[in-house]
Amino acid sequence: MTAAVGLDVGTTGVKAIAVAPDGGVLARAERSYPLSTPRPGWSEQDPEDWWRAAEAALAEVAAGREVVGIGLSGQMHGLVALDADDRVIRPAILWNDQRTADECAEIEQAIGLERLIELTGNRALPGFTAPKLLWLRRHEPAAYARIARICLPKDYVRLRLTRAWAMDVADASGTLLLDVAGRRWSRDVIDALGIPAAWLPPLLESPAPAGVVVPCDDQLQGSFAALRGVPVAAGAGDCAAAALGVGIDRPGPLSIVLGTSGVVFAALPAYRPEPEARVHVFCHAVPGAWHAMGVMLSAAGSLQWFRDRLAPGASFDELLDEAARWDPGADRLVFLPYLAGERTPHADPDARGAFVGLSLHHDRGALVRAVLEGVAFGLRDSLDLLRSLGVEADVARVSGGGARGGEWLRIVAAVLGVALETTASEEGSAYGAALLGGVAGGVFDDVHDAVTRCVRVSGRVEPEPGLVERYAALHGRFRSLYPALHQTEEEP
Ligand code: XUL
Repeated sequence: MTAAVGLDVGTTGVKAIAVAPDGGVLARAERSYPLSTPRPGWSEQDPEDWWRAAEAALAEVAAGREVVGIGLSGQMHGLVALDADDRVIRPAILWNDQRTADECAEIEQAIGLERLIELTGNRALPGFTAPKLLWLRRHEPAAYARIARICLPKDYVRLRLTRAWAMDVADASGTLLLDVAGRRWSRDVIDALGIPAAWLPPLLESPAPAGVVVPCDDQLQGSFAALRGVPVAAGAGDCAAAALGVGIDRPGPLSIVLGTSGVVFAALPAYRPEPEARVHVFCHAVPGAWHAMGVMLSAAGSLQWFRDRLAPGASFDELLDEAARWDPGADRLVFLPYLAGERTPHADPDARGAFVGLSLHHDRGALVRAVLEGVAFGLRDSLDLLRSLGVEADVARVSGGGARGGEWLRIVAAVLGVALETTASEEGSAYGAALLGGVAGGVFDDVHDAVTRCVRVSGRVEPEPGLVERYAALHGRFRSLYPALHQTEEEP
């Protein structure tokens, strides 16, 4: 059966899915890999792990199918540094790595914040790629001297899959080296930072074919070999791909991702940077279109942390059931979700998480309820910033692992005051990647055709008026805690 394949190179693992021309998901395969934190605040992965996982997942979903196109999506911003023979020089430094605060300050000083926003639409944030390059130049000069080219995580997988070195403008937007308005590398920024232009890959729009699969010698057997010659779309960063995967190809409903990170995403009617760049303004995976988004670094990642560290062995369903037994606000217990620092609304790599308001009668369910609510309040902060850009929305489409938790969606809908729609596929960014692969492979005319033919809304969670009111009253306390605690952190 004919299929378009989407491959998402995530933070915890890869996911490959095969999608039929009518949008039905025919197969899915996942492979996980480790994340290393060699120092507090650092976050790294071995690109070889991505490739091995991708190879296995692709072979699994390709078995017995005629794959006509592959699309890629992936964790954004990660720096993959390659030498002249395309060998990886050091582990990739990821989107949630916080080591580059000094380099961000240096960039904003060298270029000037206003000018930087004028040139790139964004400000320097530690997760972005450019500050990572400057960090490498300062702290690992021998590694820096060997760099011949760079790329982002999914682009490394593409390089191994097709031998083509390329990047799409959607993912490139998060490097801080792109002229986001002009959809080309920013010569001004590159020169100001002293980064060789030759290190940066050719740019493409997301659905454009970037190359075709070229199996290497040890892949000549089995289902992987059958992928030879299949076109691979340029793809997109996971936020834009997830938005496309839930049908956000033009302004209208928002896309909300409850993945490791939390994203509130709005397609824009035209390029429009936020004057202080408090939200990211990036190219969309739709050719010629842009979007704005706020990004929390620990959304479902907060719940995952809680489960892994404080409730090992418990299932997420069990934890959500326990949380549902508590009233909204869990009797004055508040969680700040800044476990890995934060990006939106507090551009602060040193922000920390907190439980505030604990008392003797609180139990595990109360802590979980506070986590769910704290993440929802964080998303609300991003939504408020998007509204200040003129974004109007009363509906959002949700994706990501956290979107499977009914109680969590009830809370998020009420805190945001918007209805949440779920879609039939539930595959998030991998699904958007598959749609892009389908366009590159000729199954769909363009991304709009792909969305119309494939994306189906399957459920809707309305904001419950009583709950909306209750959370509106609680939001102020949540908002007051970051500045209050920040002060105590600054004391010696
Ligand atoms: C987006 C971002 C995260 C990662 C997660 O700016 O950093 O959402 O892409 O994979």
